[in-house]
Amino acid sequence: MAMVCLSDFEAYAKKYLPKIAWDFFAAGADDCSTRDENILAYKRIRFRPRMLRDVSIMDIRTKLLGTEISFPVGIAPTGFHQLAWPEGEKSTARAAKAMNTCYIISTYSTCTLEEISAAAPGGLQWFQLYIHRNRAVSQKLVQRAEALGFQGLVLTADLPYTGKRRDDVRNGFRLPPHMKLKNLEEAFEVCKMSLLDPSVTWNDIYWLRSLTHLPIIIKGILTKEDAELAVRHGVQGIIVSNHGGRQLDGGPATIDALVEVVEAVQGRVEVYLDGGIRKGSDILKALALGAKCVFIGRPALWGLAYKGEEGLQDVLRILQDEFRLSMALAGCASVSEIGRHLVQFSKL
Ligand code: FNR
Repeated sequence: MAMVCLSDFEAYAKKYLPKIAWDFFAAGADDCSTRDENILAYKRIRFRPRMLRDVSIMDIRTKLLGTEISFPVGIAPTGFHQLAWPEGEKSTARAAKAMNTCYIISTYSTCTLEEISAAAPGGLQWFQLYIHRNRAVSQKLVQRAEALGFQGLVLTADLPYTGKRRDDVRNGFRLPPHMKLKNLEEAFEVCKMSLLDPSVTWNDIYWLRSLTHLPIIIKGILTKEDAELAVRHGVQGIIVSNHGGRQLDGGPATIDALVEVVEAVQGRVEVYLDGGIRKGSDILKALALGAKCVFIGRPALWGLAYKGEEGLQDVLRILQDEFRLSMALAGCASVSEIGRHLVQFSKL
């Protein structure tokens, strides 16, 4: 089977993964309207391409908080990579390093932070944190990540409780007994996500700040009000995200929310986006609307399910080639030439 675009990897994963794993990866909350809207919303945005602009030499590199990456796509934090491939997050880390991009490692990894870090020494890695009711557990994780050389701390803000994902309820989803949430083993029994702390507030950013020198990036912001609060509380980056539509159903597509967040932030911190990125032209639209970089969640899992590290590299390479081509066809030779002038919202 020729793997030409990300949908080919999705079809492969759906065919070959055990149903319970596929359903967990694919799930959105309730009737999945926000999950699906994340993808549909790109179709309402049209390019205003420019011509005759010498695109013979293309520069698609960018920087994340000062560190160069080969193109503006990183790997969003997702849990349980061993459900997709036996080597789990170690393979993800190797693929991200080989493609010179950023990998955000989930609190819910099935390999330890030490194993993941050793699999890709020198790779750009951020650690994603869910704050635990027992704050000492979270404190230890943050300090472990910093000591291992992770370069950013991503606080996920949109999961005080887990959204209602119907297929997971129907399937009675749990990790198979041979897989563990390796970084939380001592802290709590596998899959008891209820031990996350739903009382977290903006003040906890100050608590995190007191624990670490790492830049703090907040993930799950969808409004100008929260964007303003994030900046005022001293974060270094914002990820506009609705958790791939897995939390509150009925919220906006992330590409739609991006516009008000970027307007509110006015360049004071970097703004990124995840949700629904499936093609190079989606990346171009997100950058045109002000994202510095985008992250992929499910497509990374499909790549892993296809061929582990190699499959994920294939996914990233396809996105890279498609992004470069879209940029060239829109008349941009470098990322710095991408701007709001490149897109319009369709009236359809
Ligand atoms: C996620 N996401 C997520 N986010 C997070 O902060 N910590 C996590 O552990 C997870 N786990 C997770 C598992 C699975 C199976 C999915 C699909 C998603 C959300 C993720 O970081 C990201 O926001 C979305 O996946 C982006 O949407 P796309 O790219 O999947 O459309």
